[in-house]
Amino acid sequence: MRDFLLAANWKMHKNPSETRAFFAAWKGVTAGLPQKSSRGGRFRVLTFVPALNFAAAVDAAQGAGVELGLQNAHHEAKGAFTGENSAVVAREMGAEWLLVGHSERRGLFHESDAWTALKVDAGLKAGLKVMLCVGETLPEREAGQTDQVNLRQLAAGLERVDRAILEASRLVIAYEPVWAIGTGKVATPEQANQAHVAIRTWLAKQYGAELAGRTPILYGGSVKPDNAAQLREQPEIDGFLVGGASLEVASFSALAGGS
Ligand code: PGA
Repeated sequence: MRDFLLAANWKMHKNPSETRAFFAAWKGVTAGLPQKSSRGGRFRVLTFVPALNFAAAVDAAQGAGVELGLQNAHHEAKGAFTGENSAVVAREMGAEWLLVGHSERRGLFHESDAWTALKVDAGLKAGLKVMLCVGETLPEREAGQTDQVNLRQLAAGLERVDRAILEASRLVIAYEPVWAIGTGKVATPEQANQAHVAIRTWLAKQYGAELAGRTPILYGGSVKPDNAAQLREQPEIDGFLVGGASLEVASFSALAGGS
């Protein structure tokens, strides 16, 4: 039994009034969304909003059936870290989730595996649920290193995560091949499923098959209304992490299908 998670990653898009408009419109589509995942769990909607929009999002998302998350946080709860955001404060403001290890954080902001692991820990300690992103670049895929890279990022990111976290369903994985993000190039459903199998096999070795079988693994990278159905049919894909298509209510809700 696994939940299906439809997760929006708005990145650095939308201002507070656009945020309010999105959730007002979202409330109009919730009645048409599935209640359950085809894997026997729940269908859930998450939105990772920019930190500056958080207050507007908390207010506007009330009654929208959406779980809110922050896209990034420092690993310390507070301190002299100019320009950073605290997971503890995000939790106080109403965040339920923290996104960690997105390839834009790893690539553009040079966040290492070790740094990522500290953030996973900080999010969990703050009482948030964590979505850990992993994924290979195009040269890594072409060199046949896809699984090696994903499993390295996974092992490093989960270094401090014990069974109790997975038992409490406080951690999910998002597989996002870097070459498919924002490029319009989507991994084929089979490529994505294969990477998910390797991730779940690793989770099973680490935490046991039962827990691994309950942990959602999302796919991200150019998920759009016209490719979502095929991806959803893959047995190991338990949700989507969506950038571009999550910005409009019509394209985001179209990804839910029958889930
Ligand atoms: P995309 O972004 O859907 O625009 O490819 C996905 C992501 O970066 O999470």
